[in-house]
This record gives sequence, C-alpha cells and structure tokens, in this order.
Amino acid sequence: MIKRDHFIIKTKVYFNKGSMQMLKCMKGHCALVVSDSIMEELGYLEQAREFLREAGISSAIFTDVRPDPDASIVAAGVKAYEACHADVLVALGGGSVIDTAKAVLYFAGQRSMARGERFEKPCFIAIPSTSGTGSEVTNFSVISANGAKKVLIDDDISPDVALLDSICIQHVPPAVIADTGLDVLTHALEAYVSTDATDFTDALAEKTAELIFGHLKTLYDDPSNSDARDRVQNASCIAGVAFTNANLGINHSLAHALGAAFHLPHGRANALMMEAVIEFNADLAGGANNDAAWKYQKMAENLNLPARTPKEGTVSLLRAIGWLKRELGIPQGIHATGRVDPELFEKVVEGMAEEALHDRCTPTNPVQPTKEDLLRLYRKSF
Ligand SMILES: NC(=O)c1ccc[n+]([C@@H]2O[C@H](COP(=O)([O-])OP(=O)(O)OC[C@H]3O[C@@H](n4cnc5c(N)ncnc54)[C@H](O)[C@@H]3O)[C@@H](O)[C@H]2O)c1
Ligand SMILES: [Zn+2]
Repeated sequence: MIKRDHFIIKTKVYFNKGSMQMLKCMKGHCALVVSDSIMEELGYLEQAREFLREAGISSAIFTDVRPDPDASIVAAGVKAYEACHADVLVALGGGSVIDTAKAVLYFAGQRSMARGERFEKPCFIAIPSTSGTGSEVTNFSVISANGAKKVLIDDDISPDVALLDSICIQHVPPAVIADTGLDVLTHALEAYVSTDATDFTDALAEKTAELIFGHLKTLYDDPSNSDARDRVQNASCIAGVAFTNANLGINHSLAHALGAAFHLPHGRANALMMEAVIEFNADLAGGANNDAAWKYQKMAENLNLPARTPKEGTVSLLRAIGWLKRELGIPQGIHATGRVDPELFEKVVEGMAEEALHDRCTPTNPVQPTKEDLLRLYRKSF
C-alpha cells in the first residue's frame, strides 16, 4: 500500500473574535450566502450581508438548508447559485450549511462542464456556527440521498477562506455543544489511528484532544465563557485539518448509517459508537497489542492518563471518554436516546452494517472490519 506522503492546508483561516468582519475585505461583485433560518433569526445573516455590502459585493441568499441536507436541498441551492451568477460563495452556519454550499459548488461545476463551459470557481468563504465538523477546512461534504448519507470528497470543494468568529457560536444550545464537541473528539481519534495518519496529522489530533478534554465541559456548563468558546472552536478547525489529510474510520461509517436511519444528530451518533469502536480497533479483548492500541496509549499519555502499556492506555482513554460523555449528558447507549425502537433497530441493523462497510471512511480504519464485525459493534452499542 502506498503511504500518504503529503499534507495540505488550502484554506486561509482567520480565528479572532469578530473575524466575520473580514468579509469587508473580500473582492467580488455578487455573493450567494448559503445559510439557514436560525442564522437568519439570530441576525448573523444580515450582519454578513452588511459586511459584504461594505466590500461593494451585492448578495442573494439561500436559507433553505435543514440538518443533514439531502439532494433536493442541494439542487435548489444550485439553482439559486446559477440564478445570481455569483463570484463569491459564503456558507454561514453549521456543518449542514457548509456541506450544502460545498455540494452546490461541486454540482454547479459539473453542470457547467456538461454544458461545455468553463467553470469560473467563486471565492468560497465558510463561517462555521457550530464547533464540530471542521467542514470550513475540509474537502468532505456529507449529503443524504435515498435515506443514506453519502460522503463526497474533492479538493476543489475545500473553502478558500474560513472565518472562525466565536461570536457566531454564542447561542448554540448545550445539547448541540455536547454533540458537536464529541464529533470533534471523534475526528481527532479517528485521524490519529487512521492508516493515512502522519506526524503532521498526529500533532493536530493530539492538540485537538487536549483542547476538547480541557474546555468542552466548561463550555457546556457556561456557553457564555468566551475563552472556552474560542478553544473549542479552534479544536474543531484543527481536527478538520487533521482529518481532511488523514481521513477517518469506521466510527464515522457506523454513525453515518445510524444517523440516517434514526435521524440522530451526527455528533451524537458518533458519540454512541465511540467506545465500541476503540475497543475493536485496539483489539482490547485480544490483549491490545496492535498499532492502534499503541496510538491510543500515546494519546492517553499526552492527556496525562495512566498509560504504562497499550492496554492500560486504551482503557484509560475509554474511561476518560465515558466520564466526559456522562458529564455532557450523552445517553448511555443507542436505546437510551429514546429515539430507536429495538424491534425496528433489529430490522434495519444489517442494512446499516452493509452501508457502513462501503462508506468512504472505512478504508482508512486501522483494522479492516467485516460486515459481521460492524453488526457486532452496532449491537454492542445498543
Ligand atoms: N464536511 C465535513 O467535513 C463533515 C464532518 C463531519 C460531519 N459532517 C456533516 O455535518 C452535519 C452536522 O453538522 P453540525 O454538527 O455542525 O450540525 P448542523 O449544522 O446540522 O446544526 C445542528 C443544529 O444546530 C443549529 N445551529 C447551528 N448553529 C447554531 C447557532 N450558532 N446557534 C443556534 N443554533 C445553531 C442548526 O440550525 C441545526 O438545527 C451532518 O450532516 C454531518 O454528517 C460534515
Ligand atoms: Zn464527524
């Protein structure tokens, strides 16, 4: 297998409070701002358009994005994009909004090429309003199609500019802080043990875990704590840089199918699978004597947890994750979410395992699973 031999950070990241004002310095004539009704209600959308006006950029809006966007939302977004002949594309919102804007960009480009025209790529600016997906710096877009989540990966959809303005995340409800924060931790842990991990991505994954264990609980307890907001938002973006380079693993594959089947928020679906996946990757039952277990030991050491052996390190990490999840009010198992009927779960679990096996995140998992392995992980996490 060819080892990954490069590291890319395409996006220019501004991370100071108030950095949304950088919109005033952008160049262009017309922007399409992709967002959602919550961003509109909270006044961020109008604020962004005002900054664009100050830059001499007129703007049209597309605010029909809903969580876990599907192909019909993307198609409507492409229409809005083509109608306004935008040379600037702004995504203002959570991962769902940013991923929609990425898919709009991708399909507008495809359509343009199909007509035999040259696609003039707009300047793409992402302003995240959750601290979770890191989508503002990744080449991933997750779109639902036919009841399943499909991962689109293309370097051309990475944003050119990311504005991390923690003012935009000050009204995020605590439950969303918990879910999205655990998504960040999953990105770090999966990038860390990925078969595509490098020294570059390891450094980012380690810093992410340190920031999440250090500040997520503080932010959950007090969303008005601006230092905690900044640190968790940085963690989210840093983890994005890690996994856009190292890719992810089966925690995400399992979460994509589970989230799509039962409409669970992405970060929560990840959190529900996390311990079972780590135990599987490290082969904890077989003595924790593989590369992934060694990496978990290293991660535990960095977090100042007991880690004299790979087994002790893996167990310490699992305990720390379990403790953090309890502190953040994450249900203890899929059944405890109250959103998954046990009978229905048994009916669809095989299909979910099949879906997860073929997810684009599976090939870089440190241990290649069989469908039966994935089935076991779902049942264990139930
Ligand atoms: N592209 C990537 O690299 C990547 C990585 C992981 C996940 N994803 C995808 O991203 C999506 C999840 O994104 P997310 O976790 O950011 O959640 P989200 O964008 O779906 O938002 C969750 C909820 O929070 C609300 N919200 C967002 N910002 C808010 C704010 N500042 N104040 C109040 N409410 C706010 C939204 O309106 C929504 O109701 C999923 O579809 C997931 O599969 C993408
Ligand atoms: Zn994720």
